[in-house]
Amino acid sequence: MKIIGTGSVLPKKVVTNEMLSEFLDTSDEWIYTRTGIKTRHVISDEKLEDMAVEAAKKALDDAGMSAADLDFIICSNVVNEYITPSLSCIIQGGIGATCPCIDINCACAGFIYAVEMAESFYAAGKVKNVLIVCAEEPTRMTSWEDRRVCVLFGDGAGAAVLTEGDNIKGVKLSSASATDKLYQIRSLEPTPYATKEEQNIPLQMKGQDVFKFAVKASSGDITYLMDKLGMKAGDVDHFLLHQANMRIINTIASFLGQPSEKFPTNIEDHGNSSSACCPILLDECKRKGILKKGETVVMSAFGAGFVSGALVMEW
Ligand code: ACO
Repeated sequence: MKIIGTGSVLPKKVVTNEMLSEFLDTSDEWIYTRTGIKTRHVISDEKLEDMAVEAAKKALDDAGMSAADLDFIICSNVVNEYITPSLSCIIQGGIGATCPCIDINCACAGFIYAVEMAESFYAAGKVKNVLIVCAEEPTRMTSWEDRRVCVLFGDGAGAAVLTEGDNIKGVKLSSASATDKLYQIRSLEPTPYATKEEQNIPLQMKGQDVFKFAVKASSGDITYLMDKLGMKAGDVDHFLLHQANMRIINTIASFLGQPSEKFPTNIEDHGNSSSACCPILLDECKRKGILKKGETVVMSAFGAGFVSGALVMEW
């Protein structure tokens, strides 16, 4: 397939590190040196569903495509206010599409998983035009009293429209179950029979384990794809990586032996918006003219599960 349109939406409220230091035992110096984050966009009076619909409309406009032409909608989301119906069904209604739609929860790697699903459906002859929307509000998953976790996240929605073409050159998906490293638990409705005690536990993270996994998984996925496609890291013009931590991005760049200029980032302004990071970064790079026609772009992401994935495409 080929990506022919992108769009993104960020909440209007910008929270600086200094603002966090007013109610947390933290500092701009600690957060910036350890993560590369200065500010993040945080949902206040917006609804994630509306942001997802707006990002989808922007991507369709950019692609010059009408919602009626879509064959499939894939939405990547970990949490939103609805448990059911799916966010993709809400998006379908919001943009006036009639095609089938599905939600996936692949944490921060959702965009890469969604592209592989679109590619597979396309290869099977089942779809031609696919809308992917990644919409996330991780700031509603964390405890805002936990300085180790809440400082890392921001919210947002990013979307991409794919159609027939041969620009996606390869995708690699990986999973390695490690459910105690990064998780959130919510309580379910009680029944007369459920004997287990339920409780809500906000997002918990073993930061250093996640850091090690991220570097290993992302470097491994990218190297695997390069080998499979007979490419070298030097052949790649831009690496668009999941925006979790600037130190993770720098470590992967140094593992691949590539200069930091090849790794455009927005983590300083946006923080980590889970699976929305990849399509938001793609949209921003496209609008800034960073990506030129014919260039080779690698995207790679990793997240809770653990799951990870990478793709190579010709822009
Ligand atoms: N402000 C000030 N001090 C803090 C903060 C904070 N916000 N958070 C933790 N500290 C303290 C700790 O309490 C600890 O203090 P202590 O030594 O007195 O016990 C000290 O700083 C060092 O803590 P570490 O956890 O060892 O710090 P580390 O260097 O590992 O950095 C971080 C933590 C930034 C979370 C890092 O481990 C990391 O980035 N890991 C990757 C996690 C990640 O990217 N998650 C994103 C979500 S998931 C995803 O997108 C895949």
